[in-house]
Formats: sequence, C-alpha cells, structure tokens
Amino acid sequence: MPFPKGFLWGGATAANQIEGGYDCDGKGLSDADMLTNGTHLSPRRITKTTEENCYYPNRTASDFYHHYKEDIALMAEMGFKVYRMSIAWSRIFPTGEESEPNEAGLAFYDAVFDELHKYGIEPLVTLSHYEMPLHLTEKYNGWADRHVIDLFEKYVRTVVTRYRGKVKYWLTFNEINCGTLPLGNYMSLGIRNEGTDNFLHQVDDLQIRYQALHHQLVASAKAVLAAHEIDPECKVGNMIAMMPVYPLTPDPKDQLKAQKDWRLHQWYCADVQCRGAYGNYCIPFWKENGIELNITEEDRRILKEGTVDFYSLSYYQTNCVTVHDQATVSGNLLGGAKNPYLETSDWGWQIDPDGLRFTVNEIYDRYQLPIIIVENGLGAKDHLEADGTVHDPYRIDYLRRHIEAMRATIELDNVPLFGYTWWGCIDLVSASTGEMAKRYGFIYVDCDDYGKGSFRRYRKDSFYWYQKAIQSNGEDLD
Ligand code: BG6
Repeated sequence: MPFPKGFLWGGATAANQIEGGYDCDGKGLSDADMLTNGTHLSPRRITKTTEENCYYPNRTASDFYHHYKEDIALMAEMGFKVYRMSIAWSRIFPTGEESEPNEAGLAFYDAVFDELHKYGIEPLVTLSHYEMPLHLTEKYNGWADRHVIDLFEKYVRTVVTRYRGKVKYWLTFNEINCGTLPLGNYMSLGIRNEGTDNFLHQVDDLQIRYQALHHQLVASAKAVLAAHEIDPECKVGNMIAMMPVYPLTPDPKDQLKAQKDWRLHQWYCADVQCRGAYGNYCIPFWKENGIELNITEEDRRILKEGTVDFYSLSYYQTNCVTVHDQATVSGNLLGGAKNPYLETSDWGWQIDPDGLRFTVNEIYDRYQLPIIIVENGLGAKDHLEADGTVHDPYRIDYLRRHIEAMRATIELDNVPLFGYTWWGCIDLVSASTGEMAKRYGFIYVDCDDYGKGSFRRYRKDSFYWYQKAIQSNGEDLD
C-alpha cells in the first residue's frame, strides 16, 4: 500500500553539522565552533578559546555553505518533498546582541530557500539546533539567564518576518528535552559551568540547568506566538528526542522505573509544549532534587497560549531500564540496559523499528496532534570504492524496516503521521563524537575526521533505494 497522498518524504541536517563556513560573511562564533573532534572512545572537548593543534570539525563540516546548490540538486534527484535544516543564529546575529541583523547571513538562507523551492522542496526549519552565539554563553552562561529569551525572540521575529511565504513549517528547539540530561548543558542550553571541559562529563548544576530549560520552554512558546502573529499561514512544531525505554523484566519496580523515565525525559518538555503546563509529576521531582524554579505568572500565561501546532520527534533506538544488574548499551543521548531481542549499530545503539510504531502511538494517544518524524537514521562506517560507489545494505535495511513500521502506524493504528526526514541525508559531523566517520548519509562526502578530503559528493546505494521508495510513495521497498 502506498503512503497517504502528500506524505512529506525527505532528509534532515543541522547548520552547525553541515554548513562549515564558520567565519564567512560576518558569521559569529557559535558554541558548536568550540567543540573539538573526538571518537566514541575519546570524548570531545569544550574549549574556551581556539587552541592550536586542535581540530574543530563543525567549523568546516561538510561545507554545505559552498556546496548547497549541488546538495539541493541531489536531494531533488532523490525526489525529496521536504528538507529539514536549521538556521545558525550566529549567522543572523553574530553575538546575539546586535540591534540589526547581518544581511549577508539572511541572504544566504534566502538563497537556500529559493533553491529548494526551485525544485518544489518544502523547507522545514529548526530555529535552534544545538548552537547559539558563543558570546551568549560567555556573557550569560547561555539559557541560564532569562534575558536570553528576549534575544531569541528578536532573532525569531527577524527570520520569520524575512522568510514569510518561503517557510511554512518551523520547529523551535531541536531535542529540547536534551536539557533534562547533564549532556544538554552545553550542547542544548549553552551552559558552560566553571570547570567544564569534557563534553561527556560536564559540571552539572540541577538548579541552573532546569531554570535554563524553563527559559527555553518560555522562549519556545514565545516563538510559536510570534510566528503565528507574523505569518498566520505557518505551522510551528516542537522537537523531542524520543528515547523510549521498556521495563526489562516483569518486576513492577522495573515498570515504575520506566514510567518515571518516560515522564522525566520524554514528556517533561512535551507536556509543556503541547498542553501548555508542566505535568503534575514535576512537583515531586523538583522537590526531591532541591530545584526551585522561578516561574512567573507571565511565564504561565505564555506557556498556556504558545502551544505547538504539531509534534516532531527524533527516533533512533530504544533502551531498557531495570533495578536489577544487567549489561548496558550506549545510545543517542542516553544509553540503558541491553535488550536481548535487539541488534546494535556499529556505535552500539539498539535498532528497534517496532519501537518507532510503539512510540508514535504513545505520542498520539497523549496529545492528538499531527506528527512528523524529523530524525531517524543509522550512523555507520562506509567505504568509498575506487569507482565512486558506496555499498550500504545495512542502511537500506534499517530504512526499510522503519518505513514499514511507519506504514503500520498509519494504516493499522490510524495515526496521522505526515512526514519523515532521514537524519544526515548528506554525511555530516556527528553531534556526540565530532566524527565524519560515523556516516548517516545517502550522499557520501569525501572528508575525513580531520577535515581532509576533496569534499566531492558520491551517491551511495541507499541514494537510489530511497529515490525508488519516494517515487512509489513508499510502495516499492524491495
Ligand atoms: C540527534 C541530534 O540527537 O542525533 C543530531 O539532533 C545528531 O544533531 C543525531 O547528529 C545523531 O547523533 P550523532 O551523535 O550520531 O551525531
């Protein structure tokens, strides 16, 4: 059976992981520009200044800044209906505090959107994907300071006004619930507490982190309100990293642990963004952890009014939780107990297409909003053959199984899923490890972990497979 007519097939990237051109045309430094490279064995470092003999992969990334025309032509060749991308805040307001935006930065995204529309590809734009002007981290400790809400609103109003008529779908913050994890301090909230250096083991202060996350939630609601006011035609979604957990055993204690995990990691932000208020379970959580949030009456009103039009999610894997001893596995943001029924990727993430169906159903049962999957994918080691081909049956297999799971979600469960954007449709820098070697793309970018290479693009086998799947609207998955 084909997918519903008009289903949005496409791919996703983020400015800091694909663009490069970190100092081109007036762009300011962003937080992501200060992350060194790493591997999954040696963590990335967060440096305060640019250190000699260190490589900063996000500064070069896949050089989309200079290859966007070629890259968009390749997306069009695959038949993309939608391209999820983000705007780098620091291209528009280099420090975040200027009163006037940087025209060259605005012009760059105009050119990208025009190029997409030339091929009939709809842009789906994330306003903030794991970066902010570095200056705001240095001066305010990122989102820890309430003043950043106003600076963000200025940026949002600038871009929504400028791209009215060109961008119909907006997302506020990428994986905003990453702020419920210590890893989210720097990457998601722009917080760099004194002593922070190691990306995986940052200095964490729950009071600071949860207050910053509250500021971000208010900013998200304000972005929804501003976008609706400026462009009543546009739709604004949230973006949640779904990191579902199953109880490992029938022990009721495992069930309680799983329920707590769902609430504190999956629903904590989503409840605010979809229902307009924090869940009841937050009160004991804050109390137990000595967190005292400053939530004003005005904040409550904004959260209530600024709920989203649709729900977007990333989904890569599931984990188990248990109170018993069990081997663990790593994961996207969060690892967990090993599930004996699932295989893992080269980077140890558990692959679970049925979990996608389960998760999307849970979301719809809770919120009854239209849903789009804006990230799903497989990071793997690829080999570029001498003739320019890349054979990636593992990626095709992962994709096929997740598309089948989406079909079941739509047809058998009657959930209004309206699109799917594969993560890293063009190879890009890994957010967690800074590697290029962890490749997600249908398009291979000839660049290594140190930014060396021709940056030429090559079509992988999965490129042709996805092209066929899109052409048949999900019917031909052979
Ligand atoms: C998501 C992020 O968490 O996972 C992306 O939104 C990220 O930015 C993706 O790249 C895959 O994770 P990684 O660490 O393999 O790049």
